[in-house]
Amino acid sequence: MSDSRETFVNHAFVTGFPVRHSRSPLIHGHWLKALGIAGSYRAVEVTPEAFPAFIAALKDRSSGFAGGNVTIPHKELAFALADRPDDLSEELGAANTLWLEEGQLRATNTDGAGFTRNLDQRAPGWAECDSAVVLGAGGASRAVLQALRDRGIARIHVLNRTVARAQELADRFGPALSAHPMEAYDEVAQGAGLVVNTTSLGMDGTPVPDFDFSRLAPDAIVTDIVYVPLITPFLQQAEAQGRRIVDGLGMLLHQAAPGFARWFGAMPEVDERLRDLVIADM
Ligand code: ATR
Repeated sequence: MSDSRETFVNHAFVTGFPVRHSRSPLIHGHWLKALGIAGSYRAVEVTPEAFPAFIAALKDRSSGFAGGNVTIPHKELAFALADRPDDLSEELGAANTLWLEEGQLRATNTDGAGFTRNLDQRAPGWAECDSAVVLGAGGASRAVLQALRDRGIARIHVLNRTVARAQELADRFGPALSAHPMEAYDEVAQGAGLVVNTTSLGMDGTPVPDFDFSRLAPDAIVTDIVYVPLITPFLQQAEAQGRRIVDGLGMLLHQAAPGFARWFGAMPEVDERLRDLVIADM
């Protein structure tokens, strides 16, 4: 029997394999403290083989969690095992945020909203651009493409080394998208208001190929979804050419906020203090 004086303390997780590099416990721990909420958030490493049992324990409440975040390699299976995924995760076939609601396991994907909210915060007005260039067509690119389309960007050029992968995403996300090889950059960058790097170009020690950022619109934004290092070789190149850059850390911070609101009942703030905290931990 519960009585009205009972205090509910919610617990949430981030699970991945591996998961020890996750900054999510730091982010949610900061918010719990800042908002004075008596909850907990911790990393739980779960192998792909053990993941279905982990979800089963979440669903039958024996794990004691109210929900949590899911990262690589569990995002697809988390979506598949949810009772009621939302439309965003349905289209992506992948979920990063889970919560229990009315006895059901709900799922969504907040990566795309994290991407656009970061731009809204650091480059207000960015969405007025007519065209955007997205480099890469892997898992991370999908949520970005979905979010750009949903924000009404009229023309979205997806460039990828393997054009077939870019074409698959263009087919999936609709007529605003077009697929191209990387070599089409000079052509599609003409007048673009946003360039997003979702590839690992330049991150493996090999030099990043030259991009001519002077082709972009005068007030264009260049951004990366990688945030370690904060200023990636790609962003360094854009900055050296005098372009406005937005690093990828804010995407991580903003994708975390909706989950926190679900599990702990308060919408947290993404501010400079949180940014500084995560940067100090890098
Ligand atoms: P993620 O989930 O991080 O997006 P992924 O699915 O492995 O990872 O995708 C990596 C992306 O980076 C792909 O777009 C990949 O291009 P291919 O589809 O042609 O493999 C791109 N990528 C990785 N290394 C690259 C390189 N050296 N040059 C160009 N593109 C590269």
